[in-house]
Amino acid sequence: MPKSALPLSLETQAVHAGREVLHEQGIHAMPIDLSSTYPLHDLEEGGRSLEAMALGGLPQGSAVYSRLYNPTVARYEQALAQLEGAEEAVAFGSGMAAVTACLMAAKQRGGHVVAVRPVYGGTDHLLASGLLGLDVTWAEVEGIGAAIRPDTSLVIVETPANPTLAMVDLDEVVRQAGKVPVLADNTFATPVLQNPIKHGVALVLHSATKFLGGHGDVLAGIVATNGEWATELRKIRVITGNVLHPLAAYLLHRGLPTLPLRVRAQQEGARIIAERLAAHPAVSAVHFPGLPGQDPKGLLSRQMQGPGSLMAFELKGGFEAAAVVMAEVKLMTPAVSLGSVDTLIQHPAALTHRVVDAEAREHAGISQSLMRLSVGLENPEDLWADLEQALVKAMAKLAVGASR
Ligand SMILES: Cc1ncc(COP(=O)(O)O)c(C=O)c1O
Repeated sequence: MPKSALPLSLETQAVHAGREVLHEQGIHAMPIDLSSTYPLHDLEEGGRSLEAMALGGLPQGSAVYSRLYNPTVARYEQALAQLEGAEEAVAFGSGMAAVTACLMAAKQRGGHVVAVRPVYGGTDHLLASGLLGLDVTWAEVEGIGAAIRPDTSLVIVETPANPTLAMVDLDEVVRQAGKVPVLADNTFATPVLQNPIKHGVALVLHSATKFLGGHGDVLAGIVATNGEWATELRKIRVITGNVLHPLAAYLLHRGLPTLPLRVRAQQEGARIIAERLAAHPAVSAVHFPGLPGQDPKGLLSRQMQGPGSLMAFELKGGFEAAAVVMAEVKLMTPAVSLGSVDTLIQHPAALTHRVVDAEAREHAGISQSLMRLSVGLENPEDLWADLEQALVKAMAKLAVGASR
């Protein structure tokens, strides 16, 4: 980071964070260290370094082995921590690996967690599976306080939530949680639009596969947090081996300078599409925080810097209409995932949230008529033309079906 007396803006930090050491080394573009192992001629020093890292610390000399530490990954972690206003960050091989590590760390402190639905289908699946031996209570935000037990070690929320875009008031969650640490999945908002740490959240999690990567070519997860949690997470990462590959860390770091630009440009496209969808005869509802009346708690000014570029919408023709839209879009890619520079559309009940208990899914608003749209950087007019022709085909097909 260039030396500056003034606090640096997010845009400047996105360009420079995690690259200071390169200046010191006289390098401009980021190198990638693909070493799986590191020479250690001093056996005692190597052993001490290994032991420090096995306990979740940083190398004391040699990095020893790439499952314990990798400088390319560490530079990206430092950058993301800075953007989230966190002390440290710990990167993993996927968002789900990051969720798993957080839950394993929580389990050391107590066997019960409280979670608010909806969350990403994979997170819901992991929590409901019992695989990690945790007892889970699903609560509404207002009921978090009542659900807390002496052995509660974590409260888990996602905001805006996948896939309904439901917004959770983080101040309220932290208040209800009391002394229990809160984990907020910040994947949809990114550090550009929301910094949960400012609201007292302990662990900020990202599926970095999404906006942080931004180009649909990286699978990764990262948790921004304080030093104590970071040490526990690194220890779990060393033991379980859920590391991020340095090439993926390089791609993530390379994409960071454009994150603010991408997020804001995608958001402007999303505003246009959301307004048009809301006025379309095939659509019964649009869920987009930026539409009038969709932010009753004023979170867009108090907690977020904008609505983001995701939306969910419901089709009057239900599942059949959604299937036609998936089949007929030509410019948008009908696919799971989100946050990429290109537009993706999918049907959560059939895909990303298929693994969620059916009753809980309906209760959380993930109906058979709901589609999720992640708006990319294409010209919104081109996107709308594509979506509109698919909606018209869905209406026509259903009308023919109804008249038979
Ligand atoms: C909000 C959210 N959290 C976590 C995950 C899991 O991340 P990954 O797919 O990188 O494992 C996803 C994936 O879609 C997600 O949308």
